[in-house]
Amino acid sequence: MKLIYRIFQKIMFIFVLFFKFREPIKLKNKEELLEVIIKKNKQRILLLSGNHMKDTAYYKNLKEYLEQKLTVFVNTTVPSDPDITTINKIVDEAKENKIDLIIGIGGGSTMDATKIVSASLTNKKPISKMKGMLKIKKKPLDFILIPTTAGTGSECTVAAVISDKENNLKYAVNDPKLIPEYALLDPLTLESVSPFFTSTTGLDALTHAVEAYIGKSNTKKTKKEAKEAIQLIFDNLYEAATTNDLIYKEQMMLASYKAGLAITKAYVGYVHAISHSIAAYHHYSHGYLNAILLPRVLKEYGKSIYRKIGKLTKELGYIEMDASNEEATNHFINMIEQLNSDLNIKSNLDIKFTSDNIDEMIKHCKNEVKFFYPVPCYLSDKTLKKLYNTIGK
Ligand SMILES: [Fe+2]
Repeated sequence: MKLIYRIFQKIMFIFVLFFKFREPIKLKNKEELLEVIIKKNKQRILLLSGNHMKDTAYYKNLKEYLEQKLTVFVNTTVPSDPDITTINKIVDEAKENKIDLIIGIGGGSTMDATKIVSASLTNKKPISKMKGMLKIKKKPLDFILIPTTAGTGSECTVAAVISDKENNLKYAVNDPKLIPEYALLDPLTLESVSPFFTSTTGLDALTHAVEAYIGKSNTKKTKKEAKEAIQLIFDNLYEAATTNDLIYKEQMMLASYKAGLAITKAYVGYVHAISHSIAAYHHYSHGYLNAILLPRVLKEYGKSIYRKIGKLTKELGYIEMDASNEEATNHFINMIEQLNSDLNIKSNLDIKFTSDNIDEMIKHCKNEVKFFYPVPCYLSDKTLKKLYNTIGK
């Protein structure tokens, strides 16, 4: 079976090589945003976000500014784990209000919800039928994304992760039509983010970059983007999370964006698959799960990543050039563990999984990985079981 998965991944890789993915045009501030909306001749705007966003200074300021020229409808009901039922309600309300452009402002959850709301407004099919790859036929309603965390990279990826709570499922919708035409990257949006959230979303960005880099579907460009993101994260994440200096936050925003570009073509791996499988049953944040899984999964990949991570660690100057690839890889993993510890990210969850739950999560994880993630090597059930057991308390 593994051979069939690898052949499928090769075919996808070749297809992606010839497929033109657009990169969103980066906007710098609200003035540029308004200019674009006016140029597009859009008037009825939905400002979509989570509830916590409405009290932030950035949001209030943006809303007031847009209201001077546009009719702005507000919806702040996006939950931290967007689900089909909530999204359908937002879609119905948007139809009633005859919205002609959506601005999604928030973290990964809001950006993912915005993509699916926009796609649902133009495609007459239930969200469950969009699951997987290339299932969105018509261009989504125009949408612009404003990330307020530096981590998910959702503002430039083809993916949106959605929960189906009734069936305990969490799945990805992947389609290049979900890449927005514009993304507003403004470090001022990061000012109200807590140190813990800055840290864990930053570790999510690091996971994107590392999983893209070690995967088997890299191009020169994705490797370059991933490598630059890794360097930016090690150089800036600690300060971005522990100081108010905007320069570090700006660099993290760039890192998150570059890592997002890398995974659009090179995909992610077991860290994400295990993380999604846990999140389908237990409500931990995506960034936190990835932070504690990343070093553990890299250790389990063993030899299969020594050459790539060893070379990367040496090229970035984190260890002497004469170190062996194995030594360099272990050093890289230690650096991630040290970063987690410096950022006060606890390395174990506060629950213990039952063996039935572990079996369900392994099934979920394997289904996600098999065809779609060009992982460096496939992990056995025994290894996966060990991983689930060691991250609980
Ligand atoms: Fe992620």
